[in-house]
Amino acid sequence: MSFNTFGQLFRVTTWGESHGPSIGAVVDGCPPGIELSEADIQPFLDRRRPGTSRFTTQRQEPDQVKILSGVHEGKTTGTPISLVIENTDQRSKDYANITARYRPGHADVAYDMKYGHRDPRGGGRSSARETAMRVAAGAIARKVLGAGVVIRGAMVAMGAHGINRANWDWAQVEQNPFFCPDATAAQAWEAELDAVRKAGSSIGAVLEVIAEGVKPGLGAPLYGKLDADIAAALMSINAVKGVEIGDGFAAAALRGEENADEMRMKEGEIEFFSNHAGGILGGIATGQPILARFAVKPTSSILIPKRSVSADGEEVEVMTKGRHDPCVGIRAVPVGEAMLACVLADHLLRHRGQTGR
Ligand SMILES: Cc1cc2nc3c(=O)[nH]c(=O)nc-3n(C[C@H](O)[C@H](O)[C@H](O)COP(=O)(O)O)c2cc1C
Repeated sequence: MSFNTFGQLFRVTTWGESHGPSIGAVVDGCPPGIELSEADIQPFLDRRRPGTSRFTTQRQEPDQVKILSGVHEGKTTGTPISLVIENTDQRSKDYANITARYRPGHADVAYDMKYGHRDPRGGGRSSARETAMRVAAGAIARKVLGAGVVIRGAMVAMGAHGINRANWDWAQVEQNPFFCPDATAAQAWEAELDAVRKAGSSIGAVLEVIAEGVKPGLGAPLYGKLDADIAAALMSINAVKGVEIGDGFAAAALRGEENADEMRMKEGEIEFFSNHAGGILGGIATGQPILARFAVKPTSSILIPKRSVSADGEEVEVMTKGRHDPCVGIRAVPVGEAMLACVLADHLLRHRGQTGR
């Protein structure tokens, strides 16, 4: 059995390997009549694309998406939307000397334990090249959600250095190579990441994704909780080792009266005074901004030799040449946004199916 599909009604299946001829996705369950073209998807792919700054891998992939099915005369038909991106800059020779050597921190050893046969080039299926298709699917999910739902992401910590939240400015996110909302932090990170990169090392990050304008009611207790599905979706992204919703782990340090999101009525609507819950109570959206954070580990492929073993049980040292991001957290920002969009689109269709609203 294999698990390359996620979502219940808005279903995304991805396929392809890092160094195969192409990667692709099938998005099934998209409602008919939605205006859709490649131009709706491409800007999101361009934000995730490698080779855009010295802080991301120099693999040059134009990541031009093609829609093969499910759209007629500029509108979705309700049938499966098939998407494809050609791989154009794969350099398999970079991986020739590590084919039989397990790269520490990578999925090589686990894939061999499970399957016994795999495509080792660039990590094959375990490569984050696959996340381009998540971003493409996320662009379609945004169209399903409509312009009233705004999904944005940002890097809020690189290594041990977090942003100053008082400096948060969404306009900054598109103006520095880190998707960082704090201009001062972004400047400090440049020097830090340059030093990390020159040392042949890597560093982790914490990212935050926020969805505003989500209508109350999305989410299905008990085994279809919105927060559980968001956590699973974010955790499924390569290199993600932790997920928080709302205050997350920090909520454990609060007293009940501090953590309670108090309410009053304002012009006939419920008004919350805080959002410790991250916009979700009992697995159901309250209409407050939905807020999740996720932690991305430092890039495993580094120039510093690490102890490992080969597929034959030989003890070896592995140093990964090739082109890699010194902080994979940077390019994970658009991926996190896309996964949140896909989960919300799925829950919107599920909510509509059950309640008719
Ligand atoms: C956008 C993105 C790009 C990535 N690029 C790299 C990379 O260049 N080098 C690397 O070692 N890991 C990279 N990773 C992480 C690996 O794909 C991941 O660590 C590996 O497949 C093992 O899976 P796991 O960390 O989820 O257990 C990237 C992750 C993301 C989200």
